[in-house]
Amino acid sequence: MSQPRHFVDLWALDGATLRAILDDAHRRKAARAGWTQGRVDADAPAAGRTLAMIFERNSTRTRFSFDAAIRQLGGAGIISTSADMQLGRGETIEDTARVLSRMVDAVMLRAARHDTIEALAQAATVPVINGLTNKSHPCQILADLMTLEAHRGPLAGKTIAWVGDGNNVCASYLHAAGKLGFALNIATPPEYAPDGMDLARAVEAGGRITLTDDPRAAVAGADCVVADTWVSMGDIDYDERLAALGPYQVDDALMDLAGPKAMFLHCLPAHRGEEVTDAVLEGERSLVWDAAENRLHAQKSILAWCFGAF
Ligand code: CP
Ligand code: NVA
Repeated sequence: MSQPRHFVDLWALDGATLRAILDDAHRRKAARAGWTQGRVDADAPAAGRTLAMIFERNSTRTRFSFDAAIRQLGGAGIISTSADMQLGRGETIEDTARVLSRMVDAVMLRAARHDTIEALAQAATVPVINGLTNKSHPCQILADLMTLEAHRGPLAGKTIAWVGDGNNVCASYLHAAGKLGFALNIATPPEYAPDGMDLARAVEAGGRITLTDDPRAAVAGADCVVADTWVSMGDIDYDERLAALGPYQVDDALMDLAGPKAMFLHCLPAHRGEEVTDAVLEGERSLVWDAAENRLHAQKSILAWCFGAF
């Protein structure tokens, strides 16, 4: 039996595959202009297929975009929290994988721990998609990059500045940088720097990565400034994080140091007055709502790729 096409981490996929997914997403989005959200794409690449969606953590965007995505592709979805499953009472992820593989055509999981999704992918005989773990959030990055290239053109040669916590979303930017040809400047306090393995992988993949503790240096000349919450799901050191990350707030003064056409992205949910000011989030440079919409379009193409449509 051939190996299922898992979408667990961007570093495991080649640049051509990422490019093909992004191109398909742009095409599908354009083809739907003016359509109602429930109408099925003309080619219905998931017709006859079912997607299971499992959540160990809260979600708005990932939950609704995946459910809408599988419907727009002509398939069906089943959503559950892990707490409602026997998984929540101690059944192993491997046994869950074997059972679900006999009932559905793909599984999307939002996991508290990254090793849970790795174990799921190892044991499943259908594609497994990462809907966020403590270590990465690859679906988010494809939606962000889709938004950047729709508004600013080709990614190659662009500079993206990540400001704040070197977290799971930052890790997926690192995984994508070398493969898609953008430079990545990361500004974090040293104690919240990205994982060393992710940095090493990014450089190995040809990424042009700069790490600094100075947000002003990171954003200088950037095409895009990205922020995320200072306290991710599962983080418990709330007070320490707020104290260390205070100087990393993205405000208009920081945006002004980036290029005149620099855009602002945030995966959401946002904490206005912490990692970003209300003025930046609601300002003309913010494309956060487009990026949130693009979760739907990018994930449709991730699903279509997992199902072998291209
Ligand atoms: N950006 C994102 O993944 O949002 P949710 O947590 O609402 O899914
Ligand atoms: N870094 C955040 C992203 C939420 C979508 C978290 O993991 O909570």
